Amino acid sequence: QTTRRFQFNIEQKEVSRLCHRKALLTVNGEYPGPTIAVQEGDNVEVKVTNRISQNTTIHWHGIRQIRTGWADGPAFITQCPIRTGQSYTYKFTVINQKGTLLWHAHHLWQRASIYGAFIIYPRLPYPFSVPIQAEVPIILGEWWNAEVDAVENEMMMYGGGPNASNAYTINGLPGPLYPCSIKDTFIQPVEHGKTYMLRIINAALNNELFFAVANHSLTVVEVDAVYTKPFETTAIMIAPGQTTTVLITANQDPNSSGMFAMASRPYLTTLFPSDKSIAVGFLRYKGTRNGKMELPTRLETLQLDNLPQLEDNDAAIKFSKSLKSLASPQYPCQVPKKIDKRIMTTISLNLQDCPANKTCKGLNGGRFLASMNNQSFVHPKMSILQSYYYNLTAGVFASNFPEQPPKSFNYTGVDPLTEDMSTETATKLFTVPYGARIEIVLQDTNFLNPENHPIHVHGHNFFIVGSGFGNFDIARDPARYNLIDPPERNTVAVPKGGWAAIRIKADNPGVWYIHCHLEEHTSWGLATGFIVQNGPIPSQTLLPPPEDLPLC
Ligand code: C2O
Repeated sequence: QTTRRFQFNIEQKEVSRLCHRKALLTVNGEYPGPTIAVQEGDNVEVKVTNRISQNTTIHWHGIRQIRTGWADGPAFITQCPIRTGQSYTYKFTVINQKGTLLWHAHHLWQRASIYGAFIIYPRLPYPFSVPIQAEVPIILGEWWNAEVDAVENEMMMYGGGPNASNAYTINGLPGPLYPCSIKDTFIQPVEHGKTYMLRIINAALNNELFFAVANHSLTVVEVDAVYTKPFETTAIMIAPGQTTTVLITANQDPNSSGMFAMASRPYLTTLFPSDKSIAVGFLRYKGTRNGKMELPTRLETLQLDNLPQLEDNDAAIKFSKSLKSLASPQYPCQVPKKIDKRIMTTISLNLQDCPANKTCKGLNGGRFLASMNNQSFVHPKMSILQSYYYNLTAGVFASNFPEQPPKSFNYTGVDPLTEDMSTETATKLFTVPYGARIEIVLQDTNFLNPENHPIHVHGHNFFIVGSGFGNFDIARDPARYNLIDPPERNTVAVPKGGWAAIRIKADNPGVWYIHCHLEEHTSWGLATGFIVQNGPIPSQTLLPPPEDLPLC
């Protein structure tokens, strides 16, 4: 068994985009950060050294971390942050996963610039027979002219929307539709007739995105490091934290200009529903007459008819309904057909009174909190996993997260201003025994504002057995679940004003975070977590903490 070692130095680097220069938080001075590429089954060791003036952690998003919860990374959930000048080595094994994932900082809003691709080459050949000419990470992200700290603080202190990012990016580059950015355009050379694998990653903080390539169709073969039934589409919808691997064949007329735009724009945005901004990169056909051609700077010339418009629900739903597990004899679908427990959670944005001496910009002069079952999650001052391991949980967390919405909670929310807004701020998790098969129904509410929520579960994959608009109906919906080939993922885009039902086999002992992957919502408390308990004494069933585990 191979061990692959990496060194990540978290450091500041001067970077300019849109003619704004600023000191960006990076890994090894790279933006986006370095790609981690390993083989299925490898041991991975990443030594992370903190050379910035704030604390940090790194999370390997989607890596199952089977029995290696100490290496998962979310700050105050599985570890205390790494302090300035200190190092921590994340050690884990990539078991039974193959495809595209991402890694990112998991403290405050640092993942705005600290992120990169995590690629797992399969042990067996790909289950599709087309020869692949090249594999290309396509990381969708954002650029802020302002300091992201300041954006986050403003949002937390005052409530109300923060400044939007100034640009969407493809591999850190905004592309020619933004001011000052022609030189900052991602260009992928391709050869006529060849097929390429695009490993698409959404690393944006607060936006679900559409992605398309002019005149080309995409064949989806894998999402969140799990193979899917291949299907062809003209565009994909991808939520923050999700990954989608597609094949694309360079089959356009070689006598054309040879430049084809790839583009990403928001599907839904929590921030500015009128967001018109689009990141653009290009496929450049080799040997065509594009040598010195200037990049087009006007949207109309880019032939992006494939790219859905903002809030195109039909395109988003059509895409998510097309996703199915491969469910072949070699890659069977492991969806639990029966469950031991159904947990029902409402997701809402609530209004809170403005703290004294502050000016709040939320509705009626208040500020927002986000919650699940009216519980708004507070990060403790200690690592939950550590306090669980040592059985010193008092003052850190409680295990009584309510597994049903409060009775008084009317989640059709006719008039939010007269509703009970008594959201509790606390650190509450739920506990399930090892091996339990659980279903979680995630119900968006109209409480204040229906929103989109990409819910991410740490330490486990899950199966999306059903979803829909409106309210989940227990008499009707479970009978319609897909228990044959539902997609297996680590992040589900809960439809705006709708619900999604996910099934999990809780086969990984430890403490696992569950949260909205819109950073804004996580900061407002849209999170919980669960403990997979393997016997009564944690320290007898979990591995001991590594010696270099940071202290709080
Ligand atoms: Cu990608 Cu808890 O995060």
